[in-house]
Amino acid sequence: MSTLSTRAGAAPYTKLVLRVYDLWVVLISNNYGWRCNRAHFSDLYRQHIGHRHLEVGPGSGWALANIDLPADIELTLLDLNANSLDHTASRLNLSLTLIEHDVLLPLNASVDKFDSVAINYVLHCLPGEWSTKATALTNLARTLTPEGVLFGSTVIGVDQNFSVLGKVLMFAYNKFGVFGNRRDDLPGLRRVLSERFEHVEVTMVGNVALFVARRPRRHARASP
Ligand SMILES: C[S@@+](CC[C@H](N)C(=O)[O-])C[C@H]1O[C@@H](n2cnc3c(N)ncnc32)[C@H](O)[C@@H]1O
Repeated sequence: MSTLSTRAGAAPYTKLVLRVYDLWVVLISNNYGWRCNRAHFSDLYRQHIGHRHLEVGPGSGWALANIDLPADIELTLLDLNANSLDHTASRLNLSLTLIEHDVLLPLNASVDKFDSVAINYVLHCLPGEWSTKATALTNLARTLTPEGVLFGSTVIGVDQNFSVLGKVLMFAYNKFGVFGNRRDDLPGLRRVLSERFEHVEVTMVGNVALFVARRPRRHARASP
């Protein structure tokens, strides 16, 4: 299920692109485009991944494939693009639940709640303003247990000192709809997270906001 406008943000992840994703995005773009080494993302997983975990927008699945997952993990992958689901599943020697779905649309309310949800490098792929992207956060807040944690990352577009490669990537990705983050600002991210969670930490590394949000607010947990 998707809306027309969200397709562009998920479309690039063909089987071929996913094969070079770890080199191009995880190594080159992170280090020289956004100036945020992959260790920062791995640390988020090591610190926050829980027993029942929902991975939103796994892409190549590099993070899950490179950390020691909890032995008892129950893992669900959600992505608009089936290639990302299949590619990640093929890297993990686990039984998984795969959900092909647009994170901007409500999730099935009958799915059991999660202890942790990761949403890395997905918000900057979504079209629109924070008010639109925040729908994804509302949908995910509803999937968490009351003690659950949401963690993730996104490239901020406003008031940033971009490297030359960062400028080129920002221009090209926004032009073709791969990114929709030209108007994504840091105060806006903090605001939409704080409206939905009681405890929010946002840390900037290079041009990347790394965030951890706990205790989904009661109104955010309620079904529409
Ligand atoms: C840039 S990759 C991120 C991969 C990985 N999480 C990482 O941190 O490197 C974005 C992923 O989000 C997925 N995606 C983009 N828009 C989406 C949407 N509206 N709903 C669900 N998944 C989406 C893409 O298909 C892709 O797998």
